[in-house]
Amino acid sequence: MGKFDKRTAIVTGGARGIGGGTARKLAEGGAHVIIIDIDESSAVKNVSNIKSSGGTADYIIGDVSEENTIKEMIEFTLQKTGRLDILVQNAYGGGAHSVGSAVEITSEAWDRGLSLLAKSLYLGAKYAVPVMEESGSISKEHIEWSGAGLRHGDPPKQNVGRIINISSVHGLLQAPRALIYEAGKSAVIGITRQMAIDFGPLGITVNAIAPGHVVTESGEAMWREQGNEAGFKLFELQYPVRRTGVPADIANAISFLCSDEASFITGVVLPVDGGLSIQLPEEAIMYVKDFIVDNPNLRTHFDDRVGS
Ligand SMILES: NC(=O)c1ccc[n+]([C@@H]2O[C@H](COP(=O)([O-])OP(=O)(O)OC[C@H]3O[C@@H](n4cnc5c(N)ncnc54)[C@H](O)[C@@H]3O)[C@@H](O)[C@H]2O)c1
Repeated sequence: MGKFDKRTAIVTGGARGIGGGTARKLAEGGAHVIIIDIDESSAVKNVSNIKSSGGTADYIIGDVSEENTIKEMIEFTLQKTGRLDILVQNAYGGGAHSVGSAVEITSEAWDRGLSLLAKSLYLGAKYAVPVMEESGSISKEHIEWSGAGLRHGDPPKQNVGRIINISSVHGLLQAPRALIYEAGKSAVIGITRQMAIDFGPLGITVNAIAPGHVVTESGEAMWREQGNEAGFKLFELQYPVRRTGVPADIANAISFLCSDEASFITGVVLPVDGGLSIQLPEEAIMYVKDFIVDNPNLRTHFDDRVGS
């Protein structure tokens, strides 16, 4: 028995990267995974990976910052499995990446960025929560009991629905000239805490993950194009565990927070960052400084974002 057998999980941005790894992990645990993404060829590839490993998955194409897409995503999910237990809100790209301070960015870039980074999470919950609540419990103790939450009279004995929102270490700490991304990722934390309070009584936990630097397929391509070996080593040196992350690191944490074992955990922001966010920069900078002195030609794919 997989820990997510009979459960349905939606993963936004589940075609590749962290979402791709999360979709594979939840499917490995037995969930029927619904991937929603704007990148059809990667979605097709990930669904076929999942199926060839014995899992179950479907995909739908759409931009999650659009309300109609979110409605379609929920309808599609109900058509496929008739229920919804897990929602991982992870999608990211494009407009969210506009670099600049408040003086530099345009109001259009702000609207576009925050629509994806923050509004899409509100929309996701708006349409997913009533369906999750209706889906109720499938745990062994409550096998006959369907329909969780106060709308059915009694609060649930165990929280059964799961929402995981993906923030970032950029939601905990600020980087220069990154107003849109940092504001969006900080908003994810506030949204998560608010939803945890609002939906706890309905049987749904809501948690956020704050990943450190995770080398995804697109991250790897950026490193190859714009970085070098020394630049990557510099990144690793900043992490107490002396490595950066891979999608499976984040997927493992999500899988735990979605499990029955995590039923009493809600409203937390879990950094999955190899210790990056708990280290004093004034100490770390000393060994990083030595490394830079020894490697004056290092390049990273962040070079265009800082120092100007
Ligand atoms: N990779 C990192 O280092 C890192 C670190 C901290 C936080 N994060 C967060 O993790 C999440 C995933 O990032 P990633 O690095 O895996 O990115 P990625 O680019 O590898 O994957 C993102 C996925 O989202 C999809 N997507 C983009 N815009 C979409 C939209 N409007 N609607 C639906 N799907 C859309 C993309 O097509 C892609 O499949 C993001 O929320 C990101 O902010 C990433």
